[in-house]
Amino acid sequence: MSDKLAMFGGPRTVHRADVTADRIGWPVVTDAEHAAVRGVFDKGLYTSNDAGRGEVSALQRDWAQYVGVRHCAAVANGTAALELALAALDLEPGAEVLVPALTFIGSAVPIAQRGLVPVFVDIDPDTYTIDPVAAAAAITPRTRAVIAVHLHGLPCDMAALRSLAERHGLHVIEDAAQAQGARYQGRRTGSFGAVNATSLNVVKNLPTCGEGGLITTDDEDLYERVVLHRQFGEDLRAGRERDYLSRVLAGNAKLSAVQAAFTRCQLARLDADSERRDTVVRGFLGRLAELPGLRVPVCPDDRTHAWHILRLRFDPEPLDAVGVASGALRAVLQRALRAEGVPVQPYQIVPLPGQPAFRRTADPTRAYRVEDHPVSAAVIEDSVTLQRWHLNPACGPVLDACADAFEKVWANLPRLLPVARSMDYRPPWHAALALEGAA
Ligand SMILES: Cc1ncc(COP(=O)(O)O)c(C=O)c1O
Repeated sequence: MSDKLAMFGGPRTVHRADVTADRIGWPVVTDAEHAAVRGVFDKGLYTSNDAGRGEVSALQRDWAQYVGVRHCAAVANGTAALELALAALDLEPGAEVLVPALTFIGSAVPIAQRGLVPVFVDIDPDTYTIDPVAAAAAITPRTRAVIAVHLHGLPCDMAALRSLAERHGLHVIEDAAQAQGARYQGRRTGSFGAVNATSLNVVKNLPTCGEGGLITTDDEDLYERVVLHRQFGEDLRAGRERDYLSRVLAGNAKLSAVQAAFTRCQLARLDADSERRDTVVRGFLGRLAELPGLRVPVCPDDRTHAWHILRLRFDPEPLDAVGVASGALRAVLQRALRAEGVPVQPYQIVPLPGQPAFRRTADPTRAYRVEDHPVSAAVIEDSVTLQRWHLNPACGPVLDACADAFEKVWANLPRLLPVARSMDYRPPWHAALALEGAA
C-alpha cells in the first residue's frame, strides 16, 4: 500500500472495481421479490382495502407480530406515518411536541403540519439520541408528546423517556425509521410508544421498492383513528360498504400492494441480515476504534443497534492538533477519505431548528436558534457518516478496504494537520443561515 495520500496524487485505497453491486447494492433483490411482486398482478388486489386477503393486510399482520404489538397500519411513507400517529392522538392546536434537534426533517415536519409546535431538544453526545435531561428541561404546561427518534439505528433511552412521559402526562411516539428490528431491553423498537412510526423508504434497513411506512400501536382506538386518517376520514373497517362520508379532514396515505409484497420478502430476511451486518460492522468499527482521535458509535449493553448509519466523530485533542478547530479537522479528513474512495458524508448540515423552513414558518414568539443545541451543533461539525454501503451484509471486503483507507489517512496526519490549521473554515450550517441573510 502506497503511503502517499490519494488527495496528494497517490493511489486510491478503495478500488472502484471492488465496490461491486453484489457487495454494496441495497436493497438486495432476490427471486422471492420478483415472484412476490408478480403475485400481486396475478391476484389483482392492489390497495390496502383488500378485505384482509392482499399483501398490504399480510404485511400489517407480519409487522405487528414481528414488533410484538396488536395493530399495524401500512401507509405511504414514514413522514405520513408520523403525521397520522399525531393525528390519531388528536392534540389541541398549539400543543408542543418535543423532538430532537438532530434528526431527519421528516421527524419534525409532521408536527408543524398538524398545527402543533415542534420544540427542539438537544441530543446525547454519545448515543446521538434525544437527551432525556434536556427533554425534561424543555417541558412546559403545553407539552403533550415526545418523539423518540432512534437515530442511526440505536434505540433511545426508553426507560428514561417513558418515566419522563408518565410524570408529565405526555404521549410517546417512536420514530423508528432508522431502527427496524433493533431491541431495547429485549423489546423491539415500535412497541414502546402509544403509537409509533417507521419508514420503508428504499434506503432503510427494511425497505420497499420505493416509498412506504408502517404505524404500530397496541391501542385499538388509536389504530381506528389512524385508519380513519389514512383515507379521507372514511370508515373503511373490514366488511363495511364504502359510504363516502368523511368523518375527519384527512388525505390519502395508503400503501400499495406491490410495495407491501416486496417488503414482506425483506422482512423474512431482516433478522438474518441484521445479524450478519452486526458482525461485519462491529469488525470495521473495532479497527477504527484503534485510531486516536476517532470516536466510533457506541451501543449500550441493554440494546441492539440496527447500524443504519455509521457516525464517526473526530477529536483534535488526542492528536496534539494545537490550533485546529474540530470542524476544520473533520473537513480535511473528509476530503482525504473521499479521495481514498471512502464515501463519508455529512448527515444534516444544520440542527433542525436552523433549517430555513422552521426559522421562517415558526411561531414569531418562538425564535429557533442553532446555538440553543450545542451538542447537536458540535456533532454535526466534528463528524462524518457512512451510509448505504454497509447495509448489504456481504459488504465485508469493502469495509475492510475502507478501514485500510482510514489507517492510511491516520498514518499521514502530520501532513494533514497543517492543511486543517490553515484553512478558511466555516461551520456546515453557514449555507443554511446564509440563505436567509442570517450568517
Ligand atoms: C428518522 C427519520 N424519520 C422520518 C423519516 C421519513 O421517512 P420517509 O422518507 O419514508 O417519509 C426518515 C426517512 O429518512 C427518517 O430517517
